[in-house]
Amino acid sequence: MSLQIETDVPLRAFNTFGVDATAHRFVRVRSARDVRLVVDHPELGRAPKFILGGGSNLLLTRDVEAVVVKVDIAGLRVLEDDARSTLIEVGAGESWHGVVEWALDQGYAGLENLALIPGTAGAAPVQNIGAYGLELSDRLESVDVVDFVTGRSATLPAAHCRLGYRDSVFKRELAGKSLITAIRLRLPKPWVPVTGYADVARWLQRQHCTEPTPRAVFDAVCAIRRSKLPDPSQLGNAGSFFKNPVVNRTIRNEILEEYPDIVSYPLEDGTYKLAAAWMIAACGWKGQSRGGAAVHEKQPLVLVNRGGATGAEILALAQAVQASVEEKFGLRLEPEPVIV
Ligand code: EPU
Repeated sequence: MSLQIETDVPLRAFNTFGVDATAHRFVRVRSARDVRLVVDHPELGRAPKFILGGGSNLLLTRDVEAVVVKVDIAGLRVLEDDARSTLIEVGAGESWHGVVEWALDQGYAGLENLALIPGTAGAAPVQNIGAYGLELSDRLESVDVVDFVTGRSATLPAAHCRLGYRDSVFKRELAGKSLITAIRLRLPKPWVPVTGYADVARWLQRQHCTEPTPRAVFDAVCAIRRSKLPDPSQLGNAGSFFKNPVVNRTIRNEILEEYPDIVSYPLEDGTYKLAAAWMIAACGWKGQSRGGAAVHEKQPLVLVNRGGATGAEILALAQAVQASVEEKFGLRLEPEPVIV
């Protein structure tokens, strides 16, 4: 089948903030072959591209001039399953949470801490999704990409993806240059539960669950997320709007002297992650709104669209939050979503 190029497509249903914007040109790809058709297309080939997955880590503040390439590549299969691990291959357009549920239902454990993260599997490596003590980088084996210039397919081993805290090569050098068509996940055996995150440990303790099963960890993560994080289908949002700032010990100690209650976590390399949610709350932003845009009352790291907010309004709120935090703590919060 040839490519269907749609024009002036409303993007409200394609971003979880639920803001209005238009794609001048919009094309769906259902396979790596479709991506190559886009690359070889006389009109689309040379035009700048914007890759759209689930739109759950995206703030649209204007119409999109670049060609919007919506990734609808399906596929879920087990490539290897032996005594040491299971290797799963996932099409980039699959829903991430669907993958977690599918794996669990098949008896392949190891993804449950990443339950209920909105978005697609193909977007997962872009920001190296992470939650409750586990990051995609702990499970990612390799990523298939198609180069937007040459149309060539390649497989990048995880070690070449430069996965960091909500960061990867796909946000940097390869941004807009290549499209992820599939990912591979390796789930090690025997399964070891990841229950160190305080919220998870507390939830399991309350259930008197001393030897958690994969399903129990999955249920814990789902319950915690549902209690704190707004469901994008009910209240527009893109998850955490800012990254938690990582600072050296000197800066952390200076801040701690002035704000002894600040929440911080030591990282392996001797630096500290500070809880941006704590800082935003300390600036008095919890539940505050500007027009239809608001700081979520249960988790102030999340900005929400209470209805009718424009992308520009949400961005203005984000900038006001950034300015307050910078003034009080001397730290600039870095946005997590892609802002267009
Ligand atoms: N906190 C407050 N006040 C609040 C809420 C939280 O002080 O109103 C403090 C709490 O003390 C808590 C700390 O902030 O200990 C951290 O809160 P939470 O456990 O909710 O996690 P987070 O650091 O705010 C990160 C990720 C989330 C992920 C959770 C759980 C980032 C930017 N965000 O949030 O990821 O689900 O940890 O692992 O790292 C996302 O990236 O979109 C996302 C939702």
